[in-house]
Amino acid sequence: MKKTVLVSGGAGFIGSHVTVELSQAGYDVVIADNMSNCDDTNYKGVCAILGRKLPFENIDFCDAAAVSALFDKYTIDAVIHFAAYKAVGESVAEPLMYYKNNLGSFLNVLEASKNHGTHVLFSSSATVYGEPEKAPVTEESPRQPATSPYGNTKQMCEDFLRDCVKAYGMHGIALRYFNPIGAHPSALIGELPRGVPNNLVPFITQTAAGKRECLSIFGNDYPTPDGTCLRDYIDITDLAKAHVCAVTRMIENRMDEPYEIFNVGTGRPVSVLELVNAFEKVNNLKLNYRFAARRPGDVVGIWADPSLAERKLGWKAVRTVEETLASAWAWEKHLMEQALQDK
Ligand code: UD1
Repeated sequence: MKKTVLVSGGAGFIGSHVTVELSQAGYDVVIADNMSNCDDTNYKGVCAILGRKLPFENIDFCDAAAVSALFDKYTIDAVIHFAAYKAVGESVAEPLMYYKNNLGSFLNVLEASKNHGTHVLFSSSATVYGEPEKAPVTEESPRQPATSPYGNTKQMCEDFLRDCVKAYGMHGIALRYFNPIGAHPSALIGELPRGVPNNLVPFITQTAAGKRECLSIFGNDYPTPDGTCLRDYIDITDLAKAHVCAVTRMIENRMDEPYEIFNVGTGRPVSVLELVNAFEKVNNLKLNYRFAARRPGDVVGIWADPSLAERKLGWKAVRTVEETLASAWAWEKHLMEQALQDK
């Protein structure tokens, strides 16, 4: 029998890509989103890629009664929880908003999952490692005190899941993402930041598209080979496939421990400057950029040791940074064409 996965935040950047991969792997997917931070572009794109309409529920995961009713309506084998706020700076200015939304929604998911025997996959972040003492980081590397309420919610939700698994006999996996970038090869779904992008790749593509005048590279005096920060940029489709492996591991009862954590990265450090140069080369264009002051709160360098995921999930990133940067640009061009058509 087909298994059903609930994807909270399924209309967002990561959720939409995960929905496509799960569906293509043979899962039934229910998308639930309150559309507070996106429009229906990615939902429509998902349906276009799959050639059918997927069930969509407009709910706010902070509404406990609505979450409980959703779990009653469908027989859900596993839930993947993406529905959360994700802007680091905003979380510093509005901590209560972040704590209420990101913690409240996950508590409701945990409660409903406990009542229905549902497996839980939590979308965590490499931000839990803070400034690591050494890179690459393994899942055993110590978590550092969070530097933002956003980062704090990731750590706290991991702990909520760990404790619930222990107390209630549930199964849970936390995936710690490094820097997800790029878009689906169809260019029908991708990242849709509201306002000025905080993250590097959307800023790069918007600068190339002429929506932004100039990219600022934050800091070129770091103790790294070219002076710019090092990150582990993971292709969004590769990252989405890790969720299929993790969900299957839970559903097929193949876990070694009832609560497991996996890094989802490539293991390859790439500097900001290398990324910019690769973007220019693969897309055959020149990007307007300048070096600027360091951005407060940035870590110098962090990248994954992804070997645990390879060993246990049978998952490995396969796409090159060049392929991923080509997909990011194809998506930006798709958005420009859409905007022209809508005029
Ligand atoms: C941040 C968050 C991370 C979150 C991720 C979402 C922290 C410390 N970081 O990661 O938790 O999961 O976003 O994708 O909480 N850069 C520029 N110019 C720009 C934008 C960025 O030079 O206009 C540089 C940054 O200084 C950094 C690199 O690009 O070195 C990547 O930045 P960004 O895309 O914002 O991701 P992170 O800060 O690594």
